[in-house]
Amino acid sequence: MRTMTDRRITIDYTEYSTPDEMEPQDRELVAAALRARTGSYSPYSKFRVGAALRLVDGTIVLGANQENVAYPSGLCAERTAMFAAGANHPGVAFDTLAIVGANGDDVCELPAAPCGGCRQVMAEYQRLYGHPLKVILIGTHAIYKFAKVDDLLPLIFDSLNVE
Ligand code: THU
Repeated sequence: MRTMTDRRITIDYTEYSTPDEMEPQDRELVAAALRARTGSYSPYSKFRVGAALRLVDGTIVLGANQENVAYPSGLCAERTAMFAAGANHPGVAFDTLAIVGANGDDVCELPAAPCGGCRQVMAEYQRLYGHPLKVILIGTHAIYKFAKVDDLLPLIFDSLNVE
């Protein structure tokens, strides 16, 4: 007989107060994400998002949100970085993705969290390369680091669900 079961999913992440507490490679990626904001084209929302993606070979690919007067035609910073990496460095696994959001020039105090669409794209590349994609979310009061996309997207939908 089947019985109902209440279950709970927990996620793990590390919180840092400042980049100084991080590994040098992560600190460098945080600085790159902050720099990447200069590429943001966000005249409509004025929310400037920067992303920096480190590949396993050490290459850093930058991204920034790109908006459009036809709103749905725009794209998030994370996806511009991931798609640029996919297009320009095919076959090179993604290692760590750092993301920062800012209202104008003011970086958010608490880390801005990636949208669901970007999490799904992260999940795809993580599975494609069979390599955990670490994610760093940057705020001025806290920085969060996730060891894998699963921690940002529990119960991931992927091709294993498709017959
Ligand atoms: N945005 C990102 O770049 N990344 C996210 O994960 C969430 C939102 C952008 C899209 C849009 O240009 C602006 O932030 C406001 O939603």
